[in-house]
Amino acid sequence: MNRACVLVVIIVAAACTKSSEREPGDFERMRIQQRDEPYAASGRLAIDERMRHPPAGTMSRESEADSGAIGSGTSAGQPVTQVPLAVTPELLALGHEKFDVFCAVCHGAGGFGGSIVAANMGAPRPPSLRSAAVQALPPGFVFNIATKGIGRMPPYAPQLTARERWAVVAYLEQLQRSTSTSAEQREDSVRAIGIRGIDSTLAAEQQR
Ligand code: HEC
Repeated sequence: MNRACVLVVIIVAAACTKSSEREPGDFERMRIQQRDEPYAASGRLAIDERMRHPPAGTMSRESEADSGAIGSGTSAGQPVTQVPLAVTPELLALGHEKFDVFCAVCHGAGGFGGSIVAANMGAPRPPSLRSAAVQALPPGFVFNIATKGIGRMPPYAPQLTARERWAVVAYLEQLQRSTSTSAEQREDSVRAIGIRGIDSTLAAEQQR
């Protein structure tokens, strides 16, 4: 054996010794340690389970993954043309409540687009939801906008369940047909005149 060969053997042997010294210990220590198993009894919490229950009102995102018309707003790839839930007075009341909280801030309490936000926002502003063009949108399409947002409008799936978004769509349809107005809706209509001109006024909408 020549000298170079001996040297190689020594280097390889040294490398082997080093790596085998490092290998075992640390990772084993991480695996074998005290921990709580998710469904094991706890013995110290009021609820005798280690994994805590989600607070009341927590929304399951999985329930939104419903592939039917209620979850997707579409049927055979097309936006549905009717609200796929029974439009009861309860659903409309829920929709009214949610619309006033989540939509009216931008689109106005009457849907005329005369909100304070719209008045202070540059184009594209939150539009009137009472125009003929928006009234012609299929409910499934409006549901999809409420779900995913559009342009500068944010998505509402994180805040509203599918049922709540349908309730908003059903209420919006009722609002678009209605001719009676509350004080807030009138204020919205009047402010919309200032923002967009006469074609957004309550009078103009009612003449359609
Ligand atoms: C932060 C303000 C804001 C909020 C809140 C908001 N929107 Fe919008 N919305 C907009 C803007 C801005 C547009 C126009 C987007 C664009 O064209 O870029 C829009 C567009 C729309 C459209 C499409 C109108 C058209 O001309 O095609 C619909 C329908 C709609 N919004 C419904 C809703 C509903 C229902 C809610 C409540 C769940 C809601 N919006 C909440 C700002 C908002």
